[in-house]
Amino acid sequence: MPKKRVAILISGRGSNMVALIAASKAQDYPAEIALVLSNRPDAAGLARAGAEGIATTVVDHTAFGKDREGFERALQTTLEERAIELVCLAGFMRLLTPWFVRRWEGRLINIHPALLPAFKGLDTHARALAEGATFHGATVHFVVPEMDSGPIIVQERLQIRPTDTADTLAARVLEIEHRIYPLALALVASGRVEMIDGACRCREVP
Ligand code: GRF
Repeated sequence: MPKKRVAILISGRGSNMVALIAASKAQDYPAEIALVLSNRPDAAGLARAGAEGIATTVVDHTAFGKDREGFERALQTTLEERAIELVCLAGFMRLLTPWFVRRWEGRLINIHPALLPAFKGLDTHARALAEGATFHGATVHFVVPEMDSGPIIVQERLQIRPTDTADTLAARVLEIEHRIYPLALALVASGRVEMIDGACRCREVP
């Protein structure tokens, strides 16, 4: 089976992007990272991707002002030009409109630093501590128009320690993220997991 052509969308340091690139180097990995795209020209991840020999590009959202759809049409054109088949959001700090999400239905995945459906949105580690949660973790899910709400592909949890701070939790969760994102992408790219009628379906692969 040919490897699926994947774009990773970032806005910042790109540590999940690095984990995906590393995993994609294995011969039997079902996806290749064909493009890293950032909405911010200063995203540190761009240099890291470039150093790995991955094509990078910037679609600067500030150039579009309040025209969200204009920005997304530019994203769409770039992805089509590169014949991208799957998109991974990895710390991409722009909300995507239903227009874009529907175009990529079942082919757009995201990583979130919490055990969804708990702690959607930002500051997940501080909020988990403030609520006295026992468990915390990370989730990879298909993207649907409602934020942080799509069907869950992979999730891994950890037990919160009495000594944990938001920073130690962030570091512990990040280790999980770097493990489960490559796994989830492999499941989707190989067709072993797909989104059908708004839910995850797993296929037996011989
Ligand atoms: C990660 O915690 C991810 O879960 C969240 O944004 C952060 C991105 O980190 N969506 P990095 O840029 O991959 O290092």
